[in-house]
Amino acid sequence: MNLKDCYNFSDFRKLAKKRLPSPIFHYIDGGADDEATLKRNTEAFNDCDLVPNVLASVGKPDLSTTVFGKKIDMPIFLSPTAMQRLYHHDGDKASARAAEKFGTFYSMSTMANNTIEEIAEISKGPKLFQLYVHKDQSITDDLIERCRTSGYDGMCLTVDTLVAGNRERDHRTGFTTPPKLTLQSLMSFALHPEWVFNYFTHGKFELSNVKTKTDKGTNISKSVIQYINEQYDPAMNWKDAEYCAKKWNKPFALKGVMSVEDAKRAIDIGCTAIMISNHGGRQLDGSRSPFDQVKEISDAVGDKLEIILDGGIRRGTHVLKALAAGATACSFGKMFLFSLGAGGQAGVERLLQNMHDEINRNMVLMGCKTIQELNRSKIIYRK
Ligand code: LAC
Repeated sequence: MNLKDCYNFSDFRKLAKKRLPSPIFHYIDGGADDEATLKRNTEAFNDCDLVPNVLASVGKPDLSTTVFGKKIDMPIFLSPTAMQRLYHHDGDKASARAAEKFGTFYSMSTMANNTIEEIAEISKGPKLFQLYVHKDQSITDDLIERCRTSGYDGMCLTVDTLVAGNRERDHRTGFTTPPKLTLQSLMSFALHPEWVFNYFTHGKFELSNVKTKTDKGTNISKSVIQYINEQYDPAMNWKDAEYCAKKWNKPFALKGVMSVEDAKRAIDIGCTAIMISNHGGRQLDGSRSPFDQVKEISDAVGDKLEIILDGGIRRGTHVLKALAAGATACSFGKMFLFSLGAGGQAGVERLLQNMHDEINRNMVLMGCKTIQELNRSKIIYRK
């Protein structure tokens, strides 16, 4: 199997599984507790059906939309995800270049293995930065200022990860960052010599954006769970979020909003967007899926905020349903990380091409010329 055999989520997942040591594959693939929310995130799309209109002389549909003050060529972008060097030795450079090619957002995580400046240097495409509020306020301030200097377009503050979710797969595989050859994982690394070679020949693994501020998680092997619990402020509140929004003073989102009440509060603190997300089912298991919430949230705040649906997206039709329900655009993490693991930049490009083609084809089949035409009249909920 190789990249040209990858047509959908499960193909990319299969190829990534083959290429990646198992602790790394399971870190992407897994969720919290019983992974009920992880499953529901995608299943929720099946509770609603698309209703096409025929003979609409669609021709070539316009897939563009505007988020974080930038017009993007299609209504999807790459979610911020940590430590991309684990999935491919080119790390964030691969995903940033692929996103730029497709005219859409690349997002950088606070826990990236490339610096804010490095990626600004190699990509002129739209860029979003994902912020965590650290216990040490100077880290947060430093990240915001560097993003401004480097010309990032938008920022999102993750609000659903005050403590790390219980990812039992990571306990079992002994997942640490940087990867440590424990007895538990030794076999799996030994079975992936190409990955091991690339990992050790492409520079030092580090959390590049925070390395001067904290030695934690850079050269000490420790789990992500430990890192989050040590570094991030579990007492973060609305005032802290408002502080970040005001300090940034450019397009700003809260990532991880799930309730109408919080969506309304986001407007009050100066957000221009929200990302409806449960962190890919990796945090609070049993929480509702983004698709189950998007309709109600859009009814309440859709005229005042951009709404990004993040979670569960596997197909172009999922994007169409999300937009019809009220989302401005969609983002995805797992699917793109599998494509990165499967083939680096070429893998992410193939995924984005597939998704572009799926959205385009299905817009024609739906009789929609623009994504604004995807409204509630185009979907029916089964119950
Ligand atoms: C995760 C954090 C790091 O989901 O975003 O693993």
